[in-house]
Amino acid sequence: MKSSDSLLSRAPGSDGAAEIGAKVFWVGAFDPALRTFDLMLKTERGTTYNAYVVRGRKSVAVIDTVKAGMSEEFFRRIESVASYDEISAVVVNHLEPDHSGALPELLRRAPRARLYVSARGKPMLKGLLNIDSQRLSCVNTGDSIDLGGRVLSFLNTPYLHWPDTQCTWLGDAGILFSGDIFGSHYCDPRLFNDAVGDFHPSFEYYFKHLMRPFRSYVREALELIEPLPLTAIAPAHGPVLRSMPRYYVRRYRELATPAETTAPGEKCLRVFYLSVYGSTRAMAEVLAAGAESAGGVKVSLHDLERHTVDEVLDLIEECDGVALGCPTMNGDVPKLLWNVLSSLTDVDVRGKLGAAFGSFGWSGEAVAVIEDRLRSLRFRVPQAGVRARLVPTPDELALSREFGIDLAKQLTGRAEKRIVDMASLA
Ligand code: FEO
Repeated sequence: MKSSDSLLSRAPGSDGAAEIGAKVFWVGAFDPALRTFDLMLKTERGTTYNAYVVRGRKSVAVIDTVKAGMSEEFFRRIESVASYDEISAVVVNHLEPDHSGALPELLRRAPRARLYVSARGKPMLKGLLNIDSQRLSCVNTGDSIDLGGRVLSFLNTPYLHWPDTQCTWLGDAGILFSGDIFGSHYCDPRLFNDAVGDFHPSFEYYFKHLMRPFRSYVREALELIEPLPLTAIAPAHGPVLRSMPRYYVRRYRELATPAETTAPGEKCLRVFYLSVYGSTRAMAEVLAAGAESAGGVKVSLHDLERHTVDEVLDLIEECDGVALGCPTMNGDVPKLLWNVLSSLTDVDVRGKLGAAFGSFGWSGEAVAVIEDRLRSLRFRVPQAGVRARLVPTPDELALSREFGIDLAKQLTGRAEKRIVDMASLA
């Protein structure tokens, strides 16, 4: 028996729904064989696509659907607890196809159902699934729908991790249907966090690679979620968090809170370099010393060869500006630095100050390559980088020092307005 078969054999019935609260049912799908999610997350334990049915006295709501290839499993589970003509509401907490794949077919089978989606989701719904807007209601924080004695309320929690994301709150049961947040890519048919194996590494990994770039939006969402009297969190992936749900809220608060790296009013500049024979290192040292001498900036110097990519990301996440230096190798940036540049999408760097410098032998493209990458990541790159051919001369080292002073002034708002000489652009 394959391991995926053995997991499914322990499911609460491969066609059945699991009751997670009074007349609240999990109707999702198990995907134990998935090994990569969104091209970037490793999913060694597979995943689940969680969808839910909430029964009221008058009608039924379905919250989220599943990936298209898993539709039949989802529909069989729905049919075990509701008939399609009872469904008055389909809530879409998130439109990514792993949750909306079965949506068109659900709307076809449930002709009375209205669709509830965030305002940012409306144009995406059209682009992804071309769904008839006549059946659509846009909802925001404070809006709710009544199923007869049961009210579903909406919380607008965008950019976690798409613009459309929202959460849905079932107040009488204390259940938060949270969409992707609080999820884990972890497939275990025992379903509940107090019954499955140790999924915490998956929970942490998921935050680190999916939610971390959106820490400010996580903090905004937590402002809405923390006051709720939670009995359970029902996320869109992984275990249902019925035991100690507040632990996971607190953990998100910890993970989304920036570390204090500087004194009040002080800025943080980190200087990273790669150097084969000491030339770029010499530039880095005088640059850092110049920035330090300008005052108001805490400066640290780091040899990239001595750090893992994850350590560098942590350091960059918690600073206000970075200066990256390296030699040019075969017309490009060395791979050690590319590994960092290509991983910066995992952290929120928008608006940070960025700069580049380096020694070169004959062509010297690396500085421009770094600057282009930083701009594409939405760093501010206000100063053209400094370069030195081979071993930097005293004048080139003096220029590097001035560059550090200028960066410090940019960080502390003391930089003079730059005047662009239009002739230089010709
Ligand atoms: Fe689980 Fe963003 O999809």
